[in-house]
Amino acid sequence: ENLSMREKSLVFIGFMGVGKTTVAQLVAKKLYRDFVDIDLEIEREFGMPTTDIFKKIGERKFREKEKEYVLRYCKQPLKVISLGGGAFMQEDIRNACLKHSIVFYLDISWDSWKERLHMLVDSRPVLQDRSLEDIEELFNARKSTYEEHNSKLMTDHFNEEEVANYIIDSVK
Ligand code: S3P
Repeated sequence: ENLSMREKSLVFIGFMGVGKTTVAQLVAKKLYRDFVDIDLEIEREFGMPTTDIFKKIGERKFREKEKEYVLRYCKQPLKVISLGGGAFMQEDIRNACLKHSIVFYLDISWDSWKERLHMLVDSRPVLQDRSLEDIEELFNARKSTYEEHNSKLMTDHFNEEEVANYIIDSVK
């Protein structure tokens, strides 16, 4: 139940497309830890990509599964876990992660992020059928919830390798 700081899993949060998965994968590799991608776990269970899960099964079921997986993994030792951008909006997920793991918030400015939108929209149901203004509103609304974290990193001027190395130094 009570993991030491060195054993605690590292959890990555932040908006869609900020680089959580890539950074978490690099950190896991460099620390010889298991990498867990929550979205991938859910997709594997349903046997379809997230967009199809949202369409055919519904966001509610997706969020239930998301909670189930995050609560399970964040309590385990020595994992590096990438959360979907919406996961931290669930209070139970926030509480469990902040209690049992070390949470890293990967932040990005709206100006840098919007350059990436075109690469994200096909695979992110939350971005589909939304105007740029609506997406900016969601981006800003979520920021305040992401602010509950153990450590924050502005990623604008760093590549994923640099972000990963910074994180590794900070947990040494
Ligand atoms: C979501 C983000 C996605 C995925 C799903 C919903 C969100 O994860 O969980 O499409 O609500 O922000 P990424 O943050 O990895 O894109």
